[in-house]
Amino acid sequence: MNTNRFFVLFVSAWCAAALCTFVLLFFKTAPYGRHMKRDGGPTIKSRTGWVVMEAVSFFLMLYLYLTGNRRGDRTALVFLGMWLMHYAYRSFLFSPLKRGKEDRIPLVIVAASLLFNGVNAYLNGRYLFYLSPVYPIQWLAGIRFVSGAALFFAGFFINMHSDHILRGLRSAGEKTYRIPYGGLYRWVSCPNYLGEITEWIGWAVATWSLPGVAFAFWTLANLAPRSFSHHRWYRELFDDYPQERKALVPFLF
Ligand SMILES: NC(=O)c1ccc[n+]([C@@H]2O[C@H](COP(=O)([O-])OP(=O)(O)OC[C@H]3O[C@@H](n4cnc5c(N)ncnc54)[C@H](OP(=O)(O)O)[C@@H]3O)[C@@H](O)[C@H]2O)c1
Repeated sequence: MNTNRFFVLFVSAWCAAALCTFVLLFFKTAPYGRHMKRDGGPTIKSRTGWVVMEAVSFFLMLYLYLTGNRRGDRTALVFLGMWLMHYAYRSFLFSPLKRGKEDRIPLVIVAASLLFNGVNAYLNGRYLFYLSPVYPIQWLAGIRFVSGAALFFAGFFINMHSDHILRGLRSAGEKTYRIPYGGLYRWVSCPNYLGEITEWIGWAVATWSLPGVAFAFWTLANLAPRSFSHHRWYRELFDDYPQERKALVPFLF
């Protein structure tokens, strides 16, 4: 079997795994943050865990670019820049900026995220910097790139802004949860997840690639069920939780 065929088969299997995860997470919420369980096994400091599990995506993508055969290609450089921008934020800013009492994260979550991030970075980097047909510079002016990049940057902004609102809810050393207001919290309980999903759908469109679709699908599989768990949790905890607010998509669900 040649490399391209094997690659397509592997990505298809990876998408099937995302579908299973999507279904599973509706029945069992990933046990970290507010859904953490006491009997969830060994844990490490949450801030350390986040850096470790997200930085793998940053460094692996950079490594694949530097060792690939698209170095100096301007379209490849733009894709690399978009990816690194997201993961520089998630690995090196999101975690140190996290507010409140230092908490813990189960090692099993860190391990699962390392696998998820490692495989997604590998598939996207391997495709974009080794296997794909060369993207000409005109790609950057085409409808797929322009609309995809618009979604990507809009999603990135929504994600960062929503994370920023959550940070403002706590002072140092606190572990309290409060009702978030402002930005897209006016309409949904988890705009940070909505932003992240939008971002990776934008990436899939901008790169027009199967690994891009797989990553967007995995992000949806992780975050859509979790947004329903968060939404239920808010409604059970706060009597005055805004009734009109949906879980993930304004006015719909
Ligand atoms: N691509 C993917 O598949 C994927 C998967 C997972 C996460 N992510 C991204 O990673 C980021 C973090 O994810 P997450 O699941 O940890 O998000 P989250 O549950 O919304 O929590 C984000 C941060 O805000 C705090 N927080 C949340 N709600 C709060 C409230 N009502 N009052 C006070 N503090 C509150 C949390 O504290 P606690 O930790 O104490 O709850 C945590 O520090 C998100 O931007 C998400 O999009 C992406």
